[in-house]
Amino acid sequence: MAKATDTLSDPIELPGTPDFDSYPIIRRPIGATVSGGGIGIEWDDGSRSRYHPMVLRENAPDPETTHPVTREQARMLTDFPVDLAAASVDIDAADALCVAWSDGTSSRFHPGWLYAHRPRRQAPDSDLPERAIWSGDLDPSVIRVDGSNILRDEEQLSRWCAALHIYGVAILEGVGTDPTVIETVPALLGPLRDNNFGRVFDVVTKQDATSNAYTSMGLPLHVDLATREYMPGLQFLHCIENGAVGGESLLADSFFIVEKLKRETPDLYEALSTVPLTSANKAVDTDYRWTVPMIHLDPKTGEPLEVRWNPWLRAPLTEEFDTADRVYRGLRRLFDMGDDPANTVTIRLKPGEMLGFDNRRVLHGRTAYDPTTGSRALRGCYVEREELWSRLRILARQRRARAIRT
Ligand SMILES: [Fe+2]
Repeated sequence: MAKATDTLSDPIELPGTPDFDSYPIIRRPIGATVSGGGIGIEWDDGSRSRYHPMVLRENAPDPETTHPVTREQARMLTDFPVDLAAASVDIDAADALCVAWSDGTSSRFHPGWLYAHRPRRQAPDSDLPERAIWSGDLDPSVIRVDGSNILRDEEQLSRWCAALHIYGVAILEGVGTDPTVIETVPALLGPLRDNNFGRVFDVVTKQDATSNAYTSMGLPLHVDLATREYMPGLQFLHCIENGAVGGESLLADSFFIVEKLKRETPDLYEALSTVPLTSANKAVDTDYRWTVPMIHLDPKTGEPLEVRWNPWLRAPLTEEFDTADRVYRGLRRLFDMGDDPANTVTIRLKPGEMLGFDNRRVLHGRTAYDPTTGSRALRGCYVEREELWSRLRILARQRRARAIRT
């Protein structure tokens, strides 16, 4: 491996990174060693990291290892020797890590990238703001976002995305009543998810209703499409008209409610987070079913990832008596808590507002309305939750790139 030099006439450049992100140099490496088959780095704050050789080798930014256009891996894991190790390591004048590998190849690594990918770093997804779990005392102003210029204004987009992730709900104001808003604004996050109710659905009273949503009856808190293997992540409801008496929107944070259940009755929480329940739709032409525990926990953190709050599409339970009893007591307790105004927020959507929420976290419902007193018309669609997370990471990436340029 050629020894890196640092002269005024030939300033040494930092290597690229195997992705499209920008990496500020938060810590500088001050020493590198080959240690026990790994590569050890000492950082300028005294901390140390030890990298597995394959983590570095397969993510080397050179164009043979990382495709220069796609930035995806161009060499497969099995292309590398199974016993590949670092033969020698060094920190060059640009603070890049230089590794000479045992197979005769060599790599250089950007210090910002190295630090961001050090083993066991504490924040695996620091681009996503921390969630705020809420109850009935949520200040509605924190979820209201000006959307009057959202198609062109990155600041408005950023605020909307942040609220949607932090609170799991946001009301975008000032979007007008053009019926195409439901397609253009959610598409800022990613593609709309088509489904058997249509890519865009009209929530109005229908004579041949295929769902309770298309009647004027009140709807208790629920999530949409719990019957699907992959329940829709985000739901958007654009208010075109809301002139009928009734029809207030109800919202609740299921993560708050299930946490309360966990504190009060851990055995019922345990039942609802382990016993598989079947959600099944009832329709002439479709027969969607999915069987999972109501509370789905993140295997990494043990915290809820989604709650299939499904009051009216549960298939008959076929568990033995004691398990069925715990499940029913848990469901009843949760539904009671959902009916408690202390845990819910009630809002009245105005024409020109678009309600968006995390359908796998935030429960929604409505009070009954009287269609003889005026018109109520909402247009809805779904977008996956990962589209929001991707957009938040891209916005954070753009902010990092601007900060590094200035
Ligand atoms: Fe719904």
